[in-house]
Amino acid sequence: MQADKIIIIDFGSQYTKLIARKVRECHVFSEIIPCTGDLKQLKNDSALKGVILSGGPMSVFVKNAPALSKQIIELGVPVLGICYGLQLLSHHFKGNVSEGKTREFGKTRVHITSRSVILEGVSKHLSVWMSHGDYVKKLPAGFKPTSRSENGLISSFESPKNNIYGVQFHPEVNHTEQGIKIIKNFLFKVCRIKNKWKIGSFIEEKAAEIRNQVDNEKAICAMSGGVDSAVAAYLVNKAIGKNLTCVHIDNGLMRKNESRDIIKYFSKKLNLKFIDASEIFLSRLKGVSDPEKKRKIIGKTFIDVFQQYAKSVGNIKYLVQGTLYPDVIESSSFQGPSVTIKTHHNVGGLPKSLRMKLVEPFRELFKDEVREIGRALKVPAEILGRHPFPGPGLSVRILGEVTKDKLDILKEADYIYRICLHEHKLYDKIWQAFCVLLPVSTVGVQGDYRTYDKVLALRAVESVDGMTANWFHMPSAALEDISTRITNNVKGITRVVYDISNKPPATIEWE
Ligand code: XMP
Repeated sequence: MQADKIIIIDFGSQYTKLIARKVRECHVFSEIIPCTGDLKQLKNDSALKGVILSGGPMSVFVKNAPALSKQIIELGVPVLGICYGLQLLSHHFKGNVSEGKTREFGKTRVHITSRSVILEGVSKHLSVWMSHGDYVKKLPAGFKPTSRSENGLISSFESPKNNIYGVQFHPEVNHTEQGIKIIKNFLFKVCRIKNKWKIGSFIEEKAAEIRNQVDNEKAICAMSGGVDSAVAAYLVNKAIGKNLTCVHIDNGLMRKNESRDIIKYFSKKLNLKFIDASEIFLSRLKGVSDPEKKRKIIGKTFIDVFQQYAKSVGNIKYLVQGTLYPDVIESSSFQGPSVTIKTHHNVGGLPKSLRMKLVEPFRELFKDEVREIGRALKVPAEILGRHPFPGPGLSVRILGEVTKDKLDILKEADYIYRICLHEHKLYDKIWQAFCVLLPVSTVGVQGDYRTYDKVLALRAVESVDGMTANWFHMPSAALEDISTRITNNVKGITRVVYDISNKPPATIEWE
């Protein structure tokens, strides 16, 4: 049975994805559509149970501000407006939205003034996350305020007769107390969602769909060893078995033992072909220090090697990729890709000239959902728990030219770093950790000799999706242990430093 569905209309808020995520956390299927997108398709969709209007940076009363399409109201399903969405509903139904004298940003107290189904079970006074300058001065006829902020502004309203609800604050942001309760009330009490979205049925349905799509043709999957491509390979393998060939290309820029581990974990389960292309990669990188040039060379070499292999097998019609929903919505977002988007990502990096049709089973999913599917498909826990690793690998962690010697030093230091993080039980608390080899020689003393060796930077960050990140407050005992073990065991490093920069303004990687 098809799962019930919620549509989120994106008016350009930085939090739109978060709304989708929170709805998915309630096991309800949700999709984001840009406010400029085609809404006609929704008309006859019997799975559609409600619409959420996101926030957005504009004022509803300015020229060219995105408007509320009456097609949404005509769908006849409940509508919840958040922030700009609330103002849009007021504006659309002829209330009055004005520029406020008091802007409300960040944590704000609100007080519930009237019973409302979306506020059921929520404390009377709560702390919420606001981000608005405009406010609803006068509500449309038939709308009732249900809470006010400490500044006396309307912070939520309802018109149950029209099935319309609005909140000025952001229930999707974790800083809003009981925000998830408000979202759940909307989903289950207002929209009356019954058919929840289940991972188990997703696996069966997707596998059947892929079997249908690929029929008896051959498919190929480039497996880096990361979570997304590994889980995609397991799912497609479940669907079409031996008609799937997985290819792991060792570009020489992987972590220590990485290719060995990938072969160990996957060769029993999957039809896996291993290609050692490290020499080609390293020879093409010789003498190149510009980071973007390095990335381009690696991307192109990867395609060359992959293409050559595909040609040698012949007759492969499908290419499996682990593209995730955030990648899809970033590129179709109402305001276009945000400035922080990782343009350099390997998603979509394989050229059209491959002439293969794409199989992308996770285009609708978030990373944590892919992990859940991975667990259900019994993908090894070591793979599912891995920190993200960039396509260009260690090359962006050796500042300047990449050479075999520098790679050997970095691989060894990075290996010790990871072992220490596991031993100190820190690895799973960190979103991403790695070492960076700096092109800086500093003086050291070893025994009776002075040495001039390299500086190694340690990086560890906490993050949700890599778009923003905070440096991880590593316990000093762990830092000391890591530094001592690296300088004692890795020839070529005399000094270890710890990176305490957040993103923004820094990025996670150093190049
Ligand atoms: P930055 O450095 O942009 O990284 O803050 C954000 C996330 O993206 C990863 N990253 C890459 N991934 N190809 C990739 O596949 C790349 O060229 C690349 N550069 C950065 C980075 O490791 C982090 O997870």
